[in-house]
Amino acid sequence: MAKLIDGKIISAAVKAEVAKETEELKKKGVTPGLAVIIVGEDPASKVYVANKEKACEQMGFASFKYALPENTTQEELIALIEELNLKKEVSGILCQLPLPKHLNEELVINTIVPEKDVDAFHPQNVGKIMIGEFDFLPCTPAGVMEMLKYENIDITGKECVIIGRSNIVGKPMSMLLLHKNGTVTVCHSRTKNLAEVTRRADILVAAVGRANFVTADMVKEGAVVIDVGINRLENGKLCGDVNFAEVEPKASYITPVPGGVGPMTIATLMKNTLTAAKKQNGI
Ligand code: GUN
Repeated sequence: MAKLIDGKIISAAVKAEVAKETEELKKKGVTPGLAVIIVGEDPASKVYVANKEKACEQMGFASFKYALPENTTQEELIALIEELNLKKEVSGILCQLPLPKHLNEELVINTIVPEKDVDAFHPQNVGKIMIGEFDFLPCTPAGVMEMLKYENIDITGKECVIIGRSNIVGKPMSMLLLHKNGTVTVCHSRTKNLAEVTRRADILVAAVGRANFVTADMVKEGAVVIDVGINRLENGKLCGDVNFAEVEPKASYITPVPGGVGPMTIATLMKNTLTAAKKQNGI
């Protein structure tokens, strides 16, 4: 029987801390503000953006939402970001990904000034993470680290295996675990004998984007299993990358979906927005 790592409880603790600091900051005349841009009608993205808005409200942040139509041009999107880059009330800018196919995500990411890049996607922030001198931590990997810390799970010397090499999760996750002295392996679609590699993991992070991908035979007895996946099944239910029913009896700790890593991502975003507001005001 694994212990459940409850993202709702841990994220609430992080957010309570952010809300408290925000209250203090507001007394100094500074209100953190988050601008969220969403282009098109992707239903999952709409839910994520609504959750981010709700969290801003809970924190006492100002929130600015820009819901742009699917046929928005590259020029229009860049012009909006350039406007937000200059806007004093906006401490952080987040453009919800994925963008419609005709838009260039890389260009969008590069246009957000690094000081307002609360996703930590800009090459300058990515580079800082690499050398361990970051202002912002990428939201999902940082959320995972917060969960491990909360549960007092030691990373030093542990075999950490990540499935997935995305810029958003897999790659930055590997860096954060490495900074905490884990022995890190990153697996991907071309990895040979995947189950053999994942069975070595003391800490297994699944960030594949495929429902129930991680099965019991891929997990070592007593492993810590972190499920970053959020997949929607045909019946409308949310499901992670880990086959929870199979894996849970083997794991020592496991994160559920929903209610695991997801809420942690938003809590880190709130933390980053607060950090941005403080830095921009010399606090
Ligand atoms: N789409 C899925 N996850 C994320 C995220 O963390 N940030 C942004 N901007 N888009 C996403």
